[in-house]
Amino acid sequence: MARGLPEELQERLARDCPVPVPVSVFANPVLLHGPAAATLLARDYGVRDRDILEAAALHTVGRADMGRLAKIVWAADKLEPGRRHVDDALRERCRGLDPDSLILEALEATIAWLETRGREVAPETRDLYNTLRKERG
Ligand SMILES: [Fe+2]
Repeated sequence: MARGLPEELQERLARDCPVPVPVSVFANPVLLHGPAAATLLARDYGVRDRDILEAAALHTVGRADMGRLAKIVWAADKLEPGRRHVDDALRERCRGLDPDSLILEALEATIAWLETRGREVAPETRDLYNTLRKERG
């Protein structure tokens, strides 16, 4: 929805995001389109449902306290067809998992993929992973 917009516009939209956004999205331009999309959903499409706006805003970075819908959308985004770090075995492991187990699988695969390429993992993404992992004991 917002990914193809100029970066400056994405940043402006992200700063108007109707739900709180982790500061790290402003340090990595590829993360801006989440909160920018949430702004567009609210401003141009009249979406007021906080769970939907949160899911759109946080689908790029995640946050430890995000709700159930946001977790499902985050995981779905990271497991969608075409993602280079996702193979059939991972998709098969994810089949039928509850949201927290699903997002843990998606987080592990995403973080591993980013790390092996020397790419930055947003602190909120790592915090989300660590929090979920701790909750599992
Ligand atoms: Fe996206």
